[in-house]
Amino acid sequence: MTVAADFVVVSNRLPVDRTDDDAEPWRRSPGGLVTALDPVMRSADGAWVGWGGKADLDVPPFEFDGLRLVPVPLSTDEIQLYYEGFSNDTIWPLYHDVIAAPTYHRAWWDSYVKVNRRFAEAASEHTAEGGTVWVHDYQLQLVPKMLRELRPDLTIGYFHHIPFPAYGIYAQLPWRRQVLEGLLGADVIGFQRVADAGNFARAVRRQLGFDTKAGAIAVPTEDGGRRTAIARAYPISIDVASYEDLARRPDIRARAAEIRESLGDRKILLGVDRLDYTKGIRHRLKAYGELLADGRLSVHDVILVQVASPSRERVETYKQLRDEIELTVGRINGDADELGYSAIQYLHHSYPREEMVALYLAADAMLVTALRDGMNLVAKEYVASRVDGGGALVLSEFTGAADELTHAIKVNPHDIVGLKEAILQSIELPARDLDRRMRALRRRVRENDVAKWSQRFLTDLSAARRDGA
Ligand code: G6P
Repeated sequence: MTVAADFVVVSNRLPVDRTDDDAEPWRRSPGGLVTALDPVMRSADGAWVGWGGKADLDVPPFEFDGLRLVPVPLSTDEIQLYYEGFSNDTIWPLYHDVIAAPTYHRAWWDSYVKVNRRFAEAASEHTAEGGTVWVHDYQLQLVPKMLRELRPDLTIGYFHHIPFPAYGIYAQLPWRRQVLEGLLGADVIGFQRVADAGNFARAVRRQLGFDTKAGAIAVPTEDGGRRTAIARAYPISIDVASYEDLARRPDIRARAAEIRESLGDRKILLGVDRLDYTKGIRHRLKAYGELLADGRLSVHDVILVQVASPSRERVETYKQLRDEIELTVGRINGDADELGYSAIQYLHHSYPREEMVALYLAADAMLVTALRDGMNLVAKEYVASRVDGGGALVLSEFTGAADELTHAIKVNPHDIVGLKEAILQSIELPARDLDRRMRALRRRVRENDVAKWSQRFLTDLSAARRDGA
């Protein structure tokens, strides 16, 4: 018999990863969400419902590092249909402005419905009477409605970590009504940007005809009445203090110096992304390659370190992307390298946070050139890590972070000429100018850390509970 919790988080992945080591079967995953929700989880005696990251892992709820975890099993077929298929080959490309073509398969949708129901049932089973459930992200858009039907006593929040597209794009989705209805099961529906919340409200008006006013949506109830769902922007952030602490650690500073030394006396440009077509890695490489070919940059003076962490490797679009990126890196290096001087150091790995902070400290400029990105936390991590006040941030206008980080060097990554200029500026602008920008960026990032983000959301959620009571 498991004890029901007053506060339950539901996300596709648990905050731990299953290992192959029997002695230590679970490892804490480094995600920011865990850090953000940790204090709330502990004070509210919370539980976390999610998938353990491997097929057919049917294990009972367990405690890990003081967190109560409830694993939801997924079969090999479901990983293919619900996770790789509907979540990452239908919703992901559609919601990122169809940068890649979404695929619509009825069997994928059926599996998405089935798996969402399993998550809703697990949440229902583990939440105490009158409790609060916070559902996360696009893999679980149907959970709020399913959960409300199972447990009308609960207060339900949903946070959408990725963009919500304009209606003209959203309308492609064959199941557009069901998804909106699924989300509207929540009392508060949070988005990264004001524009995302607006797109959602517009889709609700156009598809369902409900009244929406300043983010308050009138949702008809079964008894012929109405309830209010709030759709609002809550831009997510990172645990700023933990990045600052790491950046001050002598061993990490020494590691940053070692990285710089190993790359020679050169300016370091840095890209850090999941290997995903939304990140604009190809555009970045193209601009950089042209600067080298034009002779405006030289491998004697500059190097691009591109960390591309492996992601969703069984989805065809991701396989193709990897081939393209690696071909491009090979070409640029082949054309531009000289003995002992490489143009691009390409690293297809994930690294621990300590190593990332050392890299952030070592880099003269961080290049974030996403074509569309819900927030882009790498941009915030870079700024938070620059406790020395150094470094420069090139930031795509198409990230959620661009709404807040207005002092970055802004780029439209589709404009290769503009992107080339921005890259040059990031290493050539007068130090005075770069310092001023970094100071403003740091102020901004420190103002809104992830604890503030969760507080804002949860405050609105408990207000919704009071109003609904
Ligand atoms: C994005 C999504 C997350 C997801 C992460 C990693 O940040 O918003 O929900 O967990 O990518 O992707 P993965 O498919 O490995 O969970």
